[in-house]
Amino acid sequence: MIRHRYLILLLAVIVWATALAVYLLGKRWLLFGAGAVALVVAIHMVLVLIAFALGGASLVGFLLGWIHPQESETPVTSSKLIHWARSYDLLVWLLTLGRDRVFREKTLDLALIAPGESVLDIGCGTGTLAIAAKRRVGSAASVTGIDASPQMIARACKKARNVGSEVTFATADVENLPYAAGTFDVVLSTVMLHHLSEDARLKCLGEVRRVLKPGGRFLALDFSGAAAERRTRVGRMHNHARFNLLRLIPQLRAAGLNPLESGPAGFRDLQFVRAVLA
Ligand SMILES: C[S@@+](CC[C@H](N)C(=O)[O-])C[C@H]1O[C@@H](n2cnc3c(N)ncnc32)[C@H](O)[C@@H]1O
Repeated sequence: MIRHRYLILLLAVIVWATALAVYLLGKRWLLFGAGAVALVVAIHMVLVLIAFALGGASLVGFLLGWIHPQESETPVTSSKLIHWARSYDLLVWLLTLGRDRVFREKTLDLALIAPGESVLDIGCGTGTLAIAAKRRVGSAASVTGIDASPQMIARACKKARNVGSEVTFATADVENLPYAAGTFDVVLSTVMLHHLSEDARLKCLGEVRRVLKPGGRFLALDFSGAAAERRTRVGRMHNHARFNLLRLIPQLRAAGLNPLESGPAGFRDLQFVRAVLA
């Protein structure tokens, strides 16, 4: 089915580009084939730029979501899941200007992760942070990553296999974590909370509290501050703009998690909050 979708998309692009070239250049396009190709490529690039200017991420997300449809093992959730796993890594690489690894290491520093600690990464995406966490906690300690998108989890498993990392990945919803109470020393959440509705976020915080050991830490890293004051276009768009991590602080307290430190995460408009289960 996925292959059919690629084929339909490819055929549509070819038909559209050919029709455009014929329309613009008439029959002469046969003589000026190279010129026609260059023109069509240029027009496509302009269209892509316009699409990005008009809210590219959601457009690309929609298109990629259509190519990689949601699979049946996806948990039923109101949250916005990401199914375009391969492209997600590329997007992160571009947004961090190739410094994804530095971003992950800095996140682990903010969580104060130490060797031997058990870690859960919720909404782990393609698993980059969980794999980095495993390097830090060592072979004797467990690291688990969950995401409600089976495509993200499949890619995370593949990445872990490729580097020989023993991280456990599972498809699960942050509103209903499949772990016993008091299982983890640390729970991480990076740029995931803005994907949840208000209700789902409260349930998620309740679950974080439940699965943490007494004295355990929760690190949330996400978009923050007034949307209009954000420096990047990514920080000002759609769900990112609507979300403000600092508003989470009272909700953390209500969930029984004591926020001890917060501030800029050192990457663009992202901030962090570190809370402790008393
Ligand atoms: C922007 S990505 C961040 C991924 C990863 N944490 C990172 O830092 O690269 C947000 C992730 O949260 C996942 N997600 C959204 N809602 C979720 C839910 N209710 N349960 C589990 N995962 C969820 C999405 O599928 C997506 O992979």
